[in-house]
Amino acid sequence: MSRTVQLFSLTALLMLASCMDSPETQVEGGSDDMFKAEISRIYGFKCALCHGRNGTSIIKTAPNLKDTKMTIEERIAIIKYGKTTMPPQKDVLDAKTIRGLAEYIDTFQ
Ligand code: HEC
Repeated sequence: MSRTVQLFSLTALLMLASCMDSPETQVEGGSDDMFKAEISRIYGFKCALCHGRNGTSIIKTAPNLKDTKMTIEERIAIIKYGKTTMPPQKDVLDAKTIRGLAEYIDTFQ
């Protein structure tokens, strides 16, 4: 009989523990948002000076990122290696950030 009670409280404890898990999952979801905010911030000081805060270029030679026809992989390549006046980022930003920036450009379109 007491064994049943023990099992019952164990189950209750496990259920409680799994409920307590859910805020953690939300924090993980939140950290994705934090990553996006971080990318937006990096874009702001690394790219916006030429390409504009919303992808509308400020300098003549830089194309509007709003109108880019490049795929994500092509964007990653130009961000990594640079081109003409665009500075390469491969030694400055990590691969995840570079991919994040390439995808961030989609938000302008
Ligand atoms: C000093 C100015 C400058 C900065 C800073 C700069 N770019 Fe550029 N970017 C350019 C120029 C100029 C080109 C055109 C290069 C060419 O085709 O000759 C370009 C091209 C691009 C292209 C290709 C667009 C297309 O469709 O041809 C992408 C994507 C891009 N930049 C993203 C970025 C990102 C992301 C950053 C920040 C990490 C950045 N750029 C920072 C000047 C800049």
